[in-house]
Amino acid sequence: MRLVVLEKVVPGSILAMDIRLGPTTLLRKGYKLSDWEIRALGERGISALYIEDKLSEDCIPTETISERTRTLAVTTLEDAYRNFNALSKDRVRRVRHIAEVMVDEILERKDITVTIHDLRTYDDYTFRHSVNVTALSLTIGREIGLERSELQMLAMGGLFHDIGKMEISLDILNKKGPLDDEERKEVQNHPLRGFDLLSERTETEPLIWALARQHHESLDGSGYPDRRKAGDIHPWAKLITVADIWDALRSDRPYKKGWPADKVIELLKSLEMKGKLDRKTLRTFLSFVMPYPTGTEVLLSSGEKGLVLEQNREEPERPVVRIIETATGFQFTREEAPVLPLAEVRQLSIVQSIQ
Ligand SMILES: [Fe+2]
Repeated sequence: MRLVVLEKVVPGSILAMDIRLGPTTLLRKGYKLSDWEIRALGERGISALYIEDKLSEDCIPTETISERTRTLAVTTLEDAYRNFNALSKDRVRRVRHIAEVMVDEILERKDITVTIHDLRTYDDYTFRHSVNVTALSLTIGREIGLERSELQMLAMGGLFHDIGKMEISLDILNKKGPLDDEERKEVQNHPLRGFDLLSERTETEPLIWALARQHHESLDGSGYPDRRKAGDIHPWAKLITVADIWDALRSDRPYKKGWPADKVIELLKSLEMKGKLDRKTLRTFLSFVMPYPTGTEVLLSSGEKGLVLEQNREEPERPVVRIIETATGFQFTREEAPVLPLAEVRQLSIVQSIQ
């Protein structure tokens, strides 16, 4: 399968992955897309799709957690977040259960690389974001050797980290233009609101409240809400911060397009250089987040175009690439297309559908 930007998806293209909205499957894998369905997906906030074609049939992106668990987690979290004013014991228990399932899955995986582009609509952003942040945080947590019980607590912190956002109106969260001072203040208040909600209305551990409160702090004291410095920030909050920035920048929002993976990696490195992010956490994160995701089209230093087939964990900048077009524009068929084991990638190029 290959990832194709929506504007380049042509009618008749075959979906390579289900498209879901909460618990509902909007369109199934194998479905042939019509013109109006492609437009309707664009209106719902989907900017790229995984499409099947012959050249990319053996490109299989990997996920941190299975689609089944992701869907269950998003649904459970949506129910808890939407009822934040009445977070019953039962709702919290269901979130604990999903945290356990996620921890089990992450511990079972052998070699995790993050290469998937998460398809999501505007409507379920906050829930999917929280689930992604949790999966990524758990992956970092596993790499640094946290134990199962610690991962369980970290997962609860990840799942609940943005619950304070439920008190902000969607008009502000989805606003297309820049926020005014009042609106920015409201947005920057969500870690504190999350802390209050969790500490006053749930029987959860104080560490979970702290993770909600500290996930926007910065090591140099320029973060919010408490302007804490490195030594006063819990190490797991530093870890959620990295996962949070990654997922927020990668995502399409009504006011911006998602950034390509390689650009987000550059920005994270520059934030670490400026003393805002924890070096060890970021290094761990970058060891499994790949700049050129499987199934995307890349431009090589030679001027050729290729499709990323597989990742090289040792050298993430040099993935396995199938050449699909020469520098002079000659297009290969699947049978004749050469494969480079360590490709010299110049940049991600615009992903296109070749039928
Ligand atoms: Fe947040």
